[in-house]
Amino acid sequence: MKAYAHVVGWGKYVPRRVLTNADLSQMVDTSDEWIRTRTGIRERRLAEEGETTSRMAIQAARQALEVAGLKPAQIDLIVVATVTSDYPLPAAACLVQDALGATGAVAFDLSAGCSGFVYGLAVAAHLLSAGVYRTALVIGAETLSRFTDWADRNTCVLFGDGAGAAILQAGENEGGVLATALGADGSGWDLLHVPAGGSRTPASHRTVAAGLHFIQMKGREVFRFAVRIIPVATREVLEQAGLSLDDLDLLVTHQANQRIIEAAARSLNVPPEGVYSNLERYGNTSAASIPIALSEAAEEGHIKPGDLVVCVGFGAGLTWAAAAIRWTRPQPAPAPRWRRFLRRLYYILAVLRSWLRRLRRRLASLWTRDILGDGREEGE
Ligand code: UT7
Repeated sequence: MKAYAHVVGWGKYVPRRVLTNADLSQMVDTSDEWIRTRTGIRERRLAEEGETTSRMAIQAARQALEVAGLKPAQIDLIVVATVTSDYPLPAAACLVQDALGATGAVAFDLSAGCSGFVYGLAVAAHLLSAGVYRTALVIGAETLSRFTDWADRNTCVLFGDGAGAAILQAGENEGGVLATALGADGSGWDLLHVPAGGSRTPASHRTVAAGLHFIQMKGREVFRFAVRIIPVATREVLEQAGLSLDDLDLLVTHQANQRIIEAAARSLNVPPEGVYSNLERYGNTSAASIPIALSEAAEEGHIKPGDLVVCVGFGAGLTWAAAAIRWTRPQPAPAPRWRRFLRRLYYILAVLRSWLRRLRRRLASLWTRDILGDGREEGE
């Protein structure tokens, strides 16, 4: 029997630090008026020192687990969609797995720009439907502020940091992720990219001095692509699900520019109340924007059981991705205090377990050095 991948948990985390348009106008030649009218953004959140992509992802994941009423040990698969992982390697997903104490989960990162979360949702939903796994945690998390040139007004006014998460669980009842439609056009790779720090141009004094580790974007071209692709992807995913625009209750697009969101809605004949937007508070958080928006929409009562939600992402690659989701869970009441306490205890134990495992590895390496010697040939 076919399994359905239901969305059973959702959560978000945004840093406390707020950067307003007025703050930005002190940093570069811009104004609140320009940013608001051209983008719809009023403020964005920036990670504090020490706040990383995985740390934000962990907070969002904990909230999603709370909503789902699941234990970390029940997770089989963790996918973190990000282009700003803590390290080039390992994957942020492994840091999340460790911190949650999700000892039974496989974990990997997925890089598909701002479409990453919906790509991740598609991968997880298919693995659940195929019966490979039962429970998946999909996260979109970004610390774009660390890759932003704060002297470049073309990009620095746009981006923000944050994380959003969703938990999918296999079930027999119809609902959940009904269809997904993904796409890529690599001929547009240079429209939105970070020139250095990869294997083509490794990081060096020269690349850093030239600011080649910062995001570069041809905004106007990405804008045109976005306005064209959102309606195409939305129609395609609805068709795949055997549904039409009349069935749609809420459209949740990648939050990049209010003008893009409105143009796409106009082209689809979706009324303003049928499109969710929280862009003005968070700016463009890349792969995190859709799960943050989904989570807020559910918390605020914009999504109810039975609703049909379409999520559409677009961005670097170029990539695009849409998912049609039949929502099946209400927003639960906050957990009682004792359960929150138990959860906190579980996470403390996860840290302790991680520490003990590292200690055991260290001791084991001392033991093997004893057996294998220190690697030098005799007589050296
Ligand atoms: O998440 C990935 C997807 N990314 C996106 O979806 C971004 C898509 N693109 C956009 O949202 C828009 O293209 C931008 C918001 C980036 C730019 O808006 P625009 O209406 O396309 O402006 P523009 O690039 O055509 O620039 C218009 C003018 C230029 O001045 P001139 O050449 O006309 O004198 C810019 O130099 O606005 C100037 N400008 C600014 N002025 C004040 C550019 N940035 C700023 C700024 N403040 N921050």
